[in-house]
Amino acid sequence: MGLHVTVSSVYRFLFVLFLLLGLNYLLFYEDARKLNTELQTSQCEVPEWNQIETDSVSTSLWNAMSRWLWMALDLSKENNQNYTSIILIGAYVYPEYISITLNSQFMVKQRLYCRYFDCKKQEIYGSEWQGIVFPESVVQCPRRIGAEFVGVSRETEEEIKNPMRLVFRNYDKPVHDLAICVAPLYGSEPKWIQIVEFIEHHKMEGATFFYFHIGNISDYDRRVLDEYVNNGDIEVKVMQEKYERPFYAWQLIEIQDCHMRAKYHSKWTTFIDIDERISTSNGLLNLLNSVDNGKLAEVQMPILNIVKSGNAPEKYENEEQVRREMISMKYNKTAGPTWDASKALIRPEKVSLVIWMNLYKDRLQIGIMSIHYAVALDPGYTTKRINHQRIVLRHYRTNYDRENSNNWERGKRLTEAPLPLEFSSELRKRVVEKVQDVYEKVPVNCSTIPEYMWKSRKFPDPCERMLITW
Ligand SMILES: *[C@@H]1O[C@H](CO)[C@@H](O)[C@H](O)[C@H]1NC(C)=O
Ligand SMILES: *[C@@H]1O[C@H](CO)[C@@H](O)[C@H](O)[C@H]1NC(C)=O
Ligand SMILES: *[C@@H]1O[C@H](CO)[C@@H](O)[C@H](O)[C@H]1NC(C)=O
Ligand SMILES: *[C@@H]1O[C@H](CO)[C@@H](O)[C@H](O)[C@H]1NC(C)=O
Repeated sequence: MGLHVTVSSVYRFLFVLFLLLGLNYLLFYEDARKLNTELQTSQCEVPEWNQIETDSVSTSLWNAMSRWLWMALDLSKENNQNYTSIILIGAYVYPEYISITLNSQFMVKQRLYCRYFDCKKQEIYGSEWQGIVFPESVVQCPRRIGAEFVGVSRETEEEIKNPMRLVFRNYDKPVHDLAICVAPLYGSEPKWIQIVEFIEHHKMEGATFFYFHIGNISDYDRRVLDEYVNNGDIEVKVMQEKYERPFYAWQLIEIQDCHMRAKYHSKWTTFIDIDERISTSNGLLNLLNSVDNGKLAEVQMPILNIVKSGNAPEKYENEEQVRREMISMKYNKTAGPTWDASKALIRPEKVSLVIWMNLYKDRLQIGIMSIHYAVALDPGYTTKRINHQRIVLRHYRTNYDRENSNNWERGKRLTEAPLPLEFSSELRKRVVEKVQDVYEKVPVNCSTIPEYMWKSRKFPDPCERMLITW
């Protein structure tokens, strides 16, 4: 087909181009920059892991060529948020390069300078490097010795007011086998019980870490998130900025940021919503290990839409309420598994870009995987579909009022599909325990508070007015 001819000639052209550029680079730039780095004096103690300097952002020639090809094919163009200035969302340091994620989405293939700062936020002399935004919202930059903060700019002289601290992802081997990206939290439905059920459910499936992004959340719901942060189970990124935008506009940005967040940190990850649960018969991590031949970079799973016809409760009341209100206890009616809008688990390091499919229906033909998220895999890596007997993504999908898809189940034949009994009773136990740890209130007897604590500082008698903390 015409497309194949184009692709292979693009490859050939890029290959030659690369050799020429590479040679040129080696001959002229290398020496000058090394000299600069040595001349620079700094008061920073540079730990051994940060004594790394790299010259490119690609880990291999193949990798570099694929990147160029995907760029040439315009695979990651999302000119849909051209109303913000360039603000950093995250910055991650890996063994060989750095990824910076941006809040804007009209930048793909534009050139931006990576700028590097030491531990005192002093710019590292002569360190800047011209990078290219690709995929959308992401700039990759080489490593610099001693860099602890980074920024981006269109011009080298532009002042960087707030460099961002690099998040450490310089791991030789991923810390986690399975960590999950949760789509930004929004909306007015209370989240506390869902957050706990989501995390405990996926821990039982083998996940050991979670990346949360917050759009808007109540203080009450935030409390349980903070608890999980303290436990070291989750990482929270709050998406806030001066530019107003509709909540769904964050989703694409969150996916890019979370992809970069998971790279080198977790072997497997997936991008799912707070009302979704991956369910397997034998544990997700066991399943991944059993299908993984070392060359697998993506696993696609079917969806099991389950009718959700009510809201979660506002606040914790008692154990009985939690058992009753857990989403998996309350809803079990489904129209059966489907590959429509299915989702995937990926190896973040082996996947170069993840695209939100709904915007890309017209690009399904180009040989790059396209389901709910289309992804471009590294050369040599493969993708696998696993059927609903072994894995499903249970999506507790509301069928009322919200902003779209009302009554999606109308006209479909519904059957009951609860979680396996053993799983659900263990889950219930864990959710109740966690919720009680965080939300149960044990009142204090005011007359047991020592007098000197309030008298000496002229606070009111606690039996008249307690001045409680929460
Ligand atoms: C984005 O906005 C800038 C400045 O208003 C404009 O120059 C540029 O052409 C716009 N890009 C797109 C793709 O709309
Ligand atoms: C943010 O969340 C709070 C608490 O759930 C809610 O009352 C408020 O309406 C939300 N704001 C927006 C803009 O969604
Ligand atoms: C499904 O949910 C309904 C309503 O909560 C419940 O009465 C029923 O027992 C559940 N079915 C199964 C098989 O658990
Ligand atoms: C509060 O503590 C006081 C003194 O220890 C005790 O006499 C009283 O019965 C307690 N009140 C309650 C409600 O437990």
